[in-house]
Amino acid sequence: MPTLGVNIDHVATVRQARMTNEPDPIWAATLAELGGADGITLHLREDRRHIQDRDLRLMRETVAVKLNLELACNAEVLAIACDVRPYQATLVPERREEVTTEGGLDVAGNSAQVSDAVKRLQDAGIVVSLFLDPDPAQIEAAAATGATAVELHTGAYAHASENYAADDELRTLIKAARQVGEAGMIVHAGHGLTYRNVCPVAQIADMCELNIGHSIIARAVMVGLEQAVRDMRRLVTGL
Ligand code: PXP
Repeated sequence: MPTLGVNIDHVATVRQARMTNEPDPIWAATLAELGGADGITLHLREDRRHIQDRDLRLMRETVAVKLNLELACNAEVLAIACDVRPYQATLVPERREEVTTEGGLDVAGNSAQVSDAVKRLQDAGIVVSLFLDPDPAQIEAAAATGATAVELHTGAYAHASENYAADDELRTLIKAARQVGEAGMIVHAGHGLTYRNVCPVAQIADMCELNIGHSIIARAVMVGLEQAVRDMRRLVTGL
């Protein structure tokens, strides 16, 4: 069964709404760990709308489980990543006007830029994952970059699951996961996963890691973060 990476960006979003110092995502990472998170995921965006540089640097010192930094192929943020050296970096596309990451990285259309970013991160000793739509051409291009893992974008599946029409999207994810594995890369997945739709994705063969943010933080507002993480981890890992 896969491991659970808890994305704590939304905690920083609440803090930034008032430009104050609470709630602190460092506390959130600690509570997520206490709830059983196998990893902590955070996204240092070019526009710094939620996570700040200080959050990344402090989490590098305080997080005991896998620290997974999401970032775009942006020279400034890449330099910070190589300096801070989280355990893992997940390269994602970024558009200023988007509410959250929309769509996967276009590796096929930007192979030189992505390969260069992969190499820089790997030279700094960081495990690299690429966030991709479950598209055979993108997976093939990802394999050529030398990346260790692919995070499959589950947004289309998650959207379809709201309409009870997720079977086709699940089949697409299963095929894509098989292709990622056959290309010698590790399979991750994430985006839009909830307590209701996560189980079929967690059960995909060779699925290693799920990264989940919104649904966990939404539940945490009601029941507390440790409990919310514990509830999700039980669904993801079966433990
Ligand atoms: N994986 C990646 C690459 C993401 O960009 C995000 C959103 O920040 C997630 C997973 C988590 O998505 P959600 O917040 O919908 O669970």
